[in-house]
Amino acid sequence: MAQAILHEVMRAAPNTLIEVGAGTGAITRALLPALAQADRFMVIERDPGFAQLLRRAFPDLEVLNHCATRLDTLDIVKHSPVTVVSSLPLLSMTRDEAHGCIDAMVTLIEGRPGSRLIQYTYASPHLRPFKDIPVGWRWRRAASIWANLPPATVWTLEQASHPSHTHNGFH
Ligand SMILES: C[S@@+](CC[C@H](N)C(=O)[O-])C[C@H]1O[C@@H](n2cnc3c(N)ncnc32)[C@H](O)[C@@H]1O
Repeated sequence: MAQAILHEVMRAAPNTLIEVGAGTGAITRALLPALAQADRFMVIERDPGFAQLLRRAFPDLEVLNHCATRLDTLDIVKHSPVTVVSSLPLLSMTRDEAHGCIDAMVTLIEGRPGSRLIQYTYASPHLRPFKDIPVGWRWRRAASIWANLPPATVWTLEQASHPSHTHNGFH
């Protein structure tokens, strides 16, 4: 699954890459090759213990002990595109918590043309990670990984019409 996420990240220029809810860093580690193509690689983790562990394991990355609901406080150039990889367990959060995180992630990408949100889920491969998405954006199922335990699906939320999403021109 981590390789499928890396492949999806590299499908277009990652620009500023942001992993949200990195936990122990299994996905972070798999995403390290993307650092060569990204302008920045920021890692957001709410748990202070995990954040400390991530800082030690990945000294080259910008690890921030932040809550995903506060993505608006990130110091990123205005309107510049971002690729967000969400490891947040949206389905096991309370409704309000999930809503806050979704709102913050969607607000971050919505104002930045060419941005993407990559979210993996362990739910049925037909179920999009969440429903309320901005007009002109769409979910694309990037991969289903049946061999993962449990089986996982990688979804990308992207602008339907953006040129970098309509062809496969970056590797
Ligand atoms: C499913 S785990 C991440 C799995 C990760 N791939 C790993 O290798 O451990 C989800 C992580 O999201 C973090 N998290 C949950 N809610 C968060 C929030 N609102 N903001 C930032 N991180 C959050 C949790 O602390 C946890 O470390």
